Amino acid sequence: MRIILLGAPGAGKGTQAQFLMGKYGIPQISTGDMLRAAIKAGTELGLEAKRVMDEGKLVSDEIIIGLVKERIAQDDCKDGFLLDGFPRTIPQADAMKEAGVTVDHCIEFDVPDDVIVERMGGRRVHPASGRVYHVVYNPPKVEGKDNETGDELIVRDDDKEETVRKRLAIYHEQTKPLVNYYSAEADAGNCEYHKLDGTRPVEEVSAELAERLG
Ligand code: AP5
Ligand code: ZN
Repeated sequence: MRIILLGAPGAGKGTQAQFLMGKYGIPQISTGDMLRAAIKAGTELGLEAKRVMDEGKLVSDEIIIGLVKERIAQDDCKDGFLLDGFPRTIPQADAMKEAGVTVDHCIEFDVPDDVIVERMGGRRVHPASGRVYHVVYNPPKVEGKDNETGDELIVRDDDKEETVRKRLAIYHEQTKPLVNYYSAEADAGNCEYHKLDGTRPVEEVSAELAERLG
């Protein structure tokens, strides 16, 4: 199964990706996580990406498309994958289409901006696994520690309110057009489109996903 997770920063893509990975046994391809790994490794790409991400802007299509194509070609993606945070612009979606990469489901998490801003302040992440928590809505078993490894959780550099607002503006400008793009793909019979209310509790969103995807 090939799935695209679409939604604003903080809409719950990473959270539901963890659920879907466990349920369907397909890998999560998070371009954000890939970029953060490059930053941590101190590569040239990482240095460039950090500057852009800290400003809440998007990394160039060319770089991102190259990264994703390389990742999708790996062995563990042959039975499907979850795209989390990609595509994010029309050129990225077009590049996938041109490369002959089809998808079965496009899932949109609908969450208003004010809910997002409130959520981001409480996010804590475990970078090594991509597991995501929230101090109130999805707390770890032990405060500040990852459930599986006990590692220290961190706050993402781009979760400052000022940066979140910039990321939201960019989402509306550059990524929101993909809602129409993939709705049209669904109308043409190329995939299924699911719009979910992402403001409900994590478990309720997961349950609806499971129902929709079968
Ligand atoms: P990326 O890492 O993709 O960030 P994002 O899209 O902005 O999304 P987030 O990871 O912030 O949110 P999410 O939807 O995964 O929400 P989460 O599940 O964590 O990208 C970061 C940056 O990298 C970009 O700004 C850009 O610079 C660059 N980049 C990445 N991909 C790119 C691309 N394709 N092209 C160009 N540049 C790219 O949840 C958020 C919080 O809410 C958590 O605390 C969680 O516990 C909580 N939560 C989740 N669901 C619920 C719920 N139902 N109820 C209550 N709380 C909830
Ligand atoms: Zn995420």
